Amino acid sequence: MSSPVRYTLNDKIGVITIDFPPVNALSHAVRQGLHDAIAAAQVDASEAIVIVCDGRTFIAGADITEFGKPPQKPLLPDLLDEIEASAKPVIAAIHGTALGGGLETALAAHYRCALDTARVGLPEVKLGLLPGAGGTQRLPRLAGVTAALDLMTSGTPIPAAKALELGIVDRIVAGDLRHAAIAWACELAGGGKGVRRSSEQVVPDFDPSIFDSYRSALAKRAKGQIAPRHIVSCVQAATERPFAEGLKLERELFLKCLESPQSVAMRHLFFAERQAAKIDGLPKDTPLRAIDSVGVIGGGTMGGGIAMSFANAGIPVTLIEINDDALAHGLSIVEKNYAASVKRGKLSEDAAAECRSLIKGSTDYADLENADLVIEAVFEDPELKKTIFARLDAVCKPGAILATNTSYQDVNVIAAATRRPGDVIGLHFFSPANIMKLLEVVRGDKTADDVLATCMSLAKKIRKVPVMSGVCYGFIGNRMLQPYFREAQLCLIEGATPAQVDTAMEAWGMAMGPIRVADLAGIDVGYKARQALLEEERGDPRASRVADVLAEMGRFGQKTGAGFYRYDKATRRHESDPEVLEIIEREAAAFGIERRDIPDEEIVDRLIYALVNEGMRIVDEGIAQRPGDIDVVYVYGYGFPVARGGPMHFADAIGLDKVYQRVLEFQERFGAEAWAPAPLLVKLASR
Ligand code: CAA
Repeated sequence: MSSPVRYTLNDKIGVITIDFPPVNALSHAVRQGLHDAIAAAQVDASEAIVIVCDGRTFIAGADITEFGKPPQKPLLPDLLDEIEASAKPVIAAIHGTALGGGLETALAAHYRCALDTARVGLPEVKLGLLPGAGGTQRLPRLAGVTAALDLMTSGTPIPAAKALELGIVDRIVAGDLRHAAIAWACELAGGGKGVRRSSEQVVPDFDPSIFDSYRSALAKRAKGQIAPRHIVSCVQAATERPFAEGLKLERELFLKCLESPQSVAMRHLFFAERQAAKIDGLPKDTPLRAIDSVGVIGGGTMGGGIAMSFANAGIPVTLIEINDDALAHGLSIVEKNYAASVKRGKLSEDAAAECRSLIKGSTDYADLENADLVIEAVFEDPELKKTIFARLDAVCKPGAILATNTSYQDVNVIAAATRRPGDVIGLHFFSPANIMKLLEVVRGDKTADDVLATCMSLAKKIRKVPVMSGVCYGFIGNRMLQPYFREAQLCLIEGATPAQVDTAMEAWGMAMGPIRVADLAGIDVGYKARQALLEEERGDPRASRVADVLAEMGRFGQKTGAGFYRYDKATRRHESDPEVLEIIEREAAAFGIERRDIPDEEIVDRLIYALVNEGMRIVDEGIAQRPGDIDVVYVYGYGFPVARGGPMHFADAIGLDKVYQRVLEFQERFGAEAWAPAPLLVKLASR
């Protein structure tokens, strides 16, 4: 195989070009090629060296597929030391994204230029890692402690202009990057400007209390994660120790992170997310339908959020409501949301105004006649949805995609209300839709391949993470939530308090405990859904009794100021409510249940294994294409801790045989109706 790195002598300038699609990751062949090229440039007639990349981006980092395999020399830190040690000045020329080991390569170079469209970042923390090739030591020397901590603990890339301001890049160029970098190299060589090593720079002044402030902020923001804490230690070392010793600590802590189950879980998610975007059996070249305008039916919280998602991506939206008042109300919520984004500094006033101008309101379905995609987001009334789809069928142009945002209902039944079921699909957004990343794309029996392919690709355009689900009650995410909530409610009636259940789950890592989630979602929602079911369809009555009582008392949750908890009107803070405890105790007695102390570990195992067991059925039935898809759904849509990799990865990591044994134990104690092990779990556990 020819090397992915070319070295050419361009008059007095040695040009090293990396060409390793898709993202020029620093795999072994690239490292070897760079090592050879730097060595060659030291002994030839070159007077300065440029490192530049072909393709869509500068180096996007270490090759993540190599992690966990035996390391092959040259190792990245050694290679970057070689680059920095070059006797001739080295310029990194950045386009696309310089990420992780990619930015570290640029930091080891002596000078950096970037296209104005480029972005740079150290996203290792998102993989449970820290920058392991000198980044924690070089960046604070160039950009200062605060910027270094921000960049590395958030993992969020910054635009070239910001990088210039922080001293991470030295100049921004427009147009032909290679040409500009070579011209600069000639300038440096001609001006006799030599090397300028980042490792020899002095860290700018800083407030020493910053490290403790970061540690306490991260304990909340990145609960339980080890990589951010280690990043702080490395940056502190950069301010206290000589460069070589700082590097030593960085290496030690990098290896600790690399071997940690957290990083294994987060790397799994990186690939699971990319895999989830692919549909097995769907050819890569499936033609896509153009989506240049969108209609949204329903201007409630969900409809408004969906409209904003498209407007934020520059796609015009027509928002339909039943009358002028409802429309004005819906648009005012959109307005408020944009104002809040401006206030939080997420959007400039101009950008917000531009997005807002892309959302037009209407009360007339005829205004949808030219829409390429229409998404229905009205409340969960099956008859209403069918009526809407029949109307859409009548007004929308041929080839328009008709989508429902239903959380539970049968997409096939909705599709059958039209004469074009092939154009119908489920697009299940999560609330608040302008913020939450997950999008369940529900493939009906008759959904056309190009409709599916278009929606998967469109999801990326509106910055969502798409996961395909087959049709079933609740699709992937909400279907799994049923046994999870069932166990949470059973723990209550058997002896736990709402606070105990939530604290146990939050301590384990869930963003919000299940009881607080129920209060946030609205206890009336589940109540109404249960009322619509036949008695025998409602499941174990003990699992819904307390919620039913609260709903009948008008305690619908946060929105009414009381549900399982009591809420402060101004701050929305929750507090335990003795009245609820009395209700739980009374209802338990009515069922003849003797309440007991339930260990936190049992609460966690029951709730998480209920998810896993249902997840196994979902994979087995082909509702999800693969276990990793379920992990993506739970991490992006349900606040599952990213450092545990999603329920299916978590189960795999602790051992499916162990999970199976615990499920058998629960079956024995709590009955087979809830706890019969999923056939796939039985099969995999026995392997
Ligand atoms: N290593 C290996 N493969 C990578 C990769 C990497 N660092 N980054 C991306 N890829 C692969 C993806 O898996 C994907 O493969 P498939 O097509 O087979 O699914 C392909 O490249 C394209 O990636 P995306 O679909 O994500 O493309 P995009 O254009 O949407 O995004 C990107 C491009 C911004 C570079 C994005 O891929 C990304 O963020 N990559 C990860 C960057 C990163 O985390 N770098 C740090 C690595 S750790 C490190 O460097 C440690 C260290 O200090 C030594």
